[in-house]
Amino acid sequence: MLPTAQIRARLLAWYDANARALPWRVGPADHARGVRADPYRVWLSEVMLQQTTVPHATPYFLAFTHRWPTVTALAREQDGEVMAAWAGLGYYARARNLLACARAVADRHGGVFPDTEEGLLALPGVGAYTAAAVAAIAFDRAANVVDGNVERVISRLHAVKAPLPGSKPELKTLAAGLVGPDRPGDWAQALMDLGATVCRPKAPLCDRCPLTSACAALAEGKPETYPRKTAKAERPHRHGVAFLLIRGDQVGLVRRPDKGLLGGMLALPSGEWGAQSDGMVAAPTTADWRPAGQIEHVFTHFSLSLQVMRAEAAPGAAPNLLWTSIDEAARSLPSVFLKALRAGLNGLL
Ligand code: ADE
Repeated sequence: MLPTAQIRARLLAWYDANARALPWRVGPADHARGVRADPYRVWLSEVMLQQTTVPHATPYFLAFTHRWPTVTALAREQDGEVMAAWAGLGYYARARNLLACARAVADRHGGVFPDTEEGLLALPGVGAYTAAAVAAIAFDRAANVVDGNVERVISRLHAVKAPLPGSKPELKTLAAGLVGPDRPGDWAQALMDLGATVCRPKAPLCDRCPLTSACAALAEGKPETYPRKTAKAERPHRHGVAFLLIRGDQVGLVRRPDKGLLGGMLALPSGEWGAQSDGMVAAPTTADWRPAGQIEHVFTHFSLSLQVMRAEAAPGAAPNLLWTSIDEAARSLPSVFLKALRAGLNGLL
């Protein structure tokens, strides 16, 4: 095993040559010249990147920062606008936490993010990971930033035999051993980039890795078998019905309750999703409902088959629905209902 100082020097040199250009990032050359990242952009990118990939999150990041260039601008926005702009990113509780945090920074901190891990952790919706990432990347604090990419790199470096998720504390401790006061922001991002581009989950590119001579998993011959994982319970499958009620170029939507799955998001009317479909129980009005396709969607904790029923609304029917243009609905609905809308419109959208 290489000494810690050598591991650090090699990975930082690799980062200097291979850092990805990302819209929220100040690259290593600019950083060395004293350019600092905008904490708002770092925070926003970290929230978006939890559970999704850089390519998927990037257009959302660009749209958000174009529309709301500062945390104060975001804090002043109405909830529904931000929820609609978040549509498609998933994990909608995160969008509500995002707004709560922006408003706390605007109201309690004069629009300036706290510059320590503890101060960041005290903000609503900011957990240990986000606090560490923003402290390191925006403020160069020696915080230990451990996401899934970093867990993979560390588990391979040390050939950690204990499976995830139980091994999380061990991996965090091992990662902490590599954090130092020199270039902590670059260090955190170097580990992330190595995990994303070289130390990949299924097909690691070990011939491009600066840490091969330190990697215990490579020495054993099968780095891709790390991190070990506890067998997951199979995802249950559910069935449901969504109702597409059309009036001219408008569709009748509902807003889901704040708590629970897709909380606070616009949606098509839909009943309970269970082991069996609840049929027409949740139809928003009596109408000439016709089957108009079925879509499949995978959530974190279950998969779903959703039957789409479609009808034309009689004049004045269902006045309690949120009547929205089909174009606006397509921009605002979360992915599962966007799929249902498309299926119900015969793919015309
Ligand atoms: N994944 C999560 N945060 C990231 C970051 N700051 N840079 C690159 N990939 C990331």
